[in-house]
Amino acid sequence: MKKLFGLLGHPVGHSLSPLMHNQMFQLLDFDGYYHAFDVEPSQLEKAVEGARALQMQGFNVTIPHKVTIMDYLDMVDEEAQEIGAVNTVVMKDGQLFGSNTDGQGYLESLMDVVTTPFPTHDVLIIGAGGAARAIGMVLKREKVRSITIANRTLAKAKEFSEVLESSETSCSALSLKEAEQQLERFSVIINTTSVGMSPRVDDMPLYLERLSRETVVSDLIYNPLETKFLREAKQKGAKTVDGLGMFVNQGALAFELWTGLRPDREKMRRCVLEQLGG
Ligand code: ATR
Repeated sequence: MKKLFGLLGHPVGHSLSPLMHNQMFQLLDFDGYYHAFDVEPSQLEKAVEGARALQMQGFNVTIPHKVTIMDYLDMVDEEAQEIGAVNTVVMKDGQLFGSNTDGQGYLESLMDVVTTPFPTHDVLIIGAGGAARAIGMVLKREKVRSITIANRTLAKAKEFSEVLESSETSCSALSLKEAEQQLERFSVIINTTSVGMSPRVDDMPLYLERLSRETVVSDLIYNPLETKFLREAKQKGAKTVDGLGMFVNQGALAFELWTGLRPDREKMRRCVLEQLGG
């Protein structure tokens, strides 16, 4: 009998996860099926009970359920607790275990380009929402020298930077304008907001006049694959990291948790790229 996996989110119509996971099941000869379930927030608890009753083997969780899902699981691992959000649930012996593969997935995509030790880096994170939280937590774990949070709502940036502060990583908060004026002091800049996402492809989270060519600039957006933010960074000589790596890696890590198999990430990337291009 096929093992059932899926995605709980709202909306989920444009998700590329079913395509990516079903192709990997096929390539690895694993008898599984992944389906995107559109679950209204008021129905989440029932959906999780349904997943138990149907003996789903695992599922992903996306907007807007990443935080509230934690109330309905049997256990949440330490990293997901620290991040305050779950994106992957595994069924083991009838119990539901929550994890978060977003931060690690992102880190692995960054490591393709950032080759110097993390404790030498000064990182600017643009945004202070769920994605910023997942990334901030793993960068703190990697002991980067400093993390600066720049956000439209400064109070949220301040609150988040206080949570991140540690003996190895100094943290601070800036407005977007202030960050623009000191851009040259950051070795890694990460956009975690949706600014620049299709269809508003001419928007940028901040201007890059003061960008140093030594800086690595990264955007979590993968539609379009090259945002205006990344295009301008490249024109200024900076190295860039697009959002597809994180999307593929978080999916690959979830796939491993569910099946114990390591999917070919390059093939996953190509599968999603084809779909985006088409
Ligand atoms: P996610 O889980 O994807 O991170 P989120 O938790 O809703 O989503 O966070 C969205 C982030 O993008 C926030 O930091 C938000 O800024 P505010 O805290 O001021 O709301 C930021 N953001 C969204 N739209 C933006 C815009 N048009 N300009 C600047 N920042 C924006």
